[in-house]
Amino acid sequence: MRVAVERVSKTYADRRGASVEALRDVSLTVDAEEFVALLGPSGCGKSTLLALVAGLLAPSAGAIYFEGDLPPGRAATAMVFQEFALFPWRTVQANVEFGLEEAGLPAAARAARARDLIQLTGLAGFEARYPHQLSGGMRQRVGIARALAVDPAVLLMDEPFSALDAQTRQLMQEELLQIWERTRTTILYVTHNIQEAVYLADRVVVLSRRPGSVLATVPVGLARPRAEAMLGAPAFIAAADRIWSLIKSEAREALREAGA
Ligand SMILES: Nc1ncnc2c1ncn2[C@@H]1O[C@H](COP(=O)(O)OP(=O)(O)OP(=O)(O)O)[C@@H](O)[C@H]1O
Ligand SMILES: [Mg+2]
Repeated sequence: MRVAVERVSKTYADRRGASVEALRDVSLTVDAEEFVALLGPSGCGKSTLLALVAGLLAPSAGAIYFEGDLPPGRAATAMVFQEFALFPWRTVQANVEFGLEEAGLPAAARAARARDLIQLTGLAGFEARYPHQLSGGMRQRVGIARALAVDPAVLLMDEPFSALDAQTRQLMQEELLQIWERTRTTILYVTHNIQEAVYLADRVVVLSRRPGSVLATVPVGLARPRAEAMLGAPAFIAAADRIWSLIKSEAREALREAGA
């Protein structure tokens, strides 16, 4: 399924009636089976944009369209959160089954589907564990398995690996790419890490500081499947340099404003 975000703005009103303009006139598309990264500085409205695409928030202006057929039983979107957001009182198996329960799937079908996702995400053998018994990387695998269980047409990922140490993060990136090669789920992936965005994505949408607006969309000219050796490839460096030059002046301004 294809997602089209058309001229979307979002202004929050806080309790005292003051307003915060989070996004201004944002347009972007994510094609079917495409992996798009959304990159921008802290507070520029990335999570807001994901919440809008997920239908958790309504835009103040503009609209979001989903184009293509949604077979019955498939969810339009599913989200993987930055903080693992698992249910601590549920086992791995029960966490993965959560969305399927919501969808009213019978127990046997739920169990079978969860087993497949547990296999796919490398969690076999950990079905009966509780989240507190898992490492950060494994918890985020449960988050991914739970999101993929409902077979979403579009997978929304909000800085899913940012709480992990650098090595685990690298391994999880590799695993996510392997999963994506097999499922080809349309992915919109939020990060503020340039290297991660370029390594994972087909295109990187670069947002400005708040209110977030699109500075540019940078295509990544790297072959698939991706491999660690590509981190030094000319196409990798070209895309990373381009993104850095887009956000550099904004980052400088932010530092100046902070009095640094
Ligand atoms: N519910 C809300 N009410 C008022 N303001 C909000 C609300 N949620 C977010 N904001 C503000 O909107 C702006 C964008 O927030 P958002 O969380 O979307 O940014 P972000 O790019 O995801 O940031 P980060 O990189 O830190 O996760 C911020 O200034 C934030 O303070
Ligand atoms: Mg955020």
